[in-house]
Amino acid sequence: MKAKHLSLLLHVFLISGVLVNAFDPITTTVVIGCGATLGRFLYTYLHESCDPKWIAFNATGLKTDLESKLIGQHVASRIILKAVTGFMSNSNPKKPLVLSLHGWTGTGKNFVSQLIAENIYKEGMDSSFVHVFTSELHFPHASQLETYKSQLQQWIKGNVTNCAQSMFIFDEMDQMHPGLIDSIKPYLDYYDKLDGVSYRRAIFIFLSNAGGDSIVQKALDFWRGGQNREEIELRDLETDLSLSVFNNKKSGLWHTSLIDKNLVDFFVPFLPLEYRHVVQCAMAEMQAAGMQPDKRTAEQLAGDLVYFPKADRVFSVKGCKTIASKLDYYT
Ligand SMILES: *[C@@H]1O[C@H](CO)[C@@H](O)[C@H](O)[C@H]1NC(C)=O
Ligand SMILES: *[C@@H]1O[C@H](CO)[C@@H](O)[C@H](O)[C@H]1NC(C)=O
Repeated sequence: MKAKHLSLLLHVFLISGVLVNAFDPITTTVVIGCGATLGRFLYTYLHESCDPKWIAFNATGLKTDLESKLIGQHVASRIILKAVTGFMSNSNPKKPLVLSLHGWTGTGKNFVSQLIAENIYKEGMDSSFVHVFTSELHFPHASQLETYKSQLQQWIKGNVTNCAQSMFIFDEMDQMHPGLIDSIKPYLDYYDKLDGVSYRRAIFIFLSNAGGDSIVQKALDFWRGGQNREEIELRDLETDLSLSVFNNKKSGLWHTSLIDKNLVDFFVPFLPLEYRHVVQCAMAEMQAAGMQPDKRTAEQLAGDLVYFPKADRVFSVKGCKTIASKLDYYT
């Protein structure tokens, strides 16, 4: 429950107190007294706080979610589970957990961040300890870089001071100004404390399309070679990924020294999605929307999307991204 609701509740108590006041002063005192106590109790009980009641990692939950809800991403699924479970079960990590998720749009990067949040914070993405930054939304003007830098540093510091187990998600990392990324570097590093604040229990997740092309190329090689997609392993993607990410001077993150200094703990590749995955996404969306999942509708919807390469139509250009909004037109 949100603070808004709580204050509403308190108002109701106070108003009822005032109404009773017209009749009997003793009852009034009792009602107000009870109201205030109950209100305080409800507030501490329902208001999210930085403690194990609100922040408790559910390893089984994350495993189940990754297996049942994340579609077509066996490599990412394995790395995420290992990384997050390892980090969360370590009571004294030496640095914050830094994950860098790579892949084309619609392949599940945002969705995975959501699954992680849901299995750590009771309030999931709505938690006041989960922070999402988008360059377009939060840092749109290059001319304001210096302001953004100090603002972002203050936000991170302030929030981690409030709660050590804070999570920061940076969407569209490729569009983020390199200077801005540089400014958060100290927080990702192996420091015991910076200005008295320890960042070691925080989680940073970077989302980007950088390296997406090389992942697609590798998936296409496997497909052309008649090899099973599920045989693709991290080591098949890792070298290409780090090379293409590293050499791509355009993508902000990478010509900073994040990689150089090994500040990123895990690079997580997201594979392009095939027709059959899009069908699965559509079925899952129908279920989520409270409809009866219908295979024919799902296949029709998936069949109408754009696939590449043009000749073979193997991978969905937008992954599963537009499925939810398209569903209305097909049902
Ligand atoms: C953890 O997740 C599992 C699977 O989703 C669920 O059954 C279980 O109730 C969860 N545990 C807690 C403590 O929330
Ligand atoms: C925490 O981060 C949010 C942005 O997500 C910011 O608005 C807020 O001011 C920060 N809190 C503190 C205490 O710095």
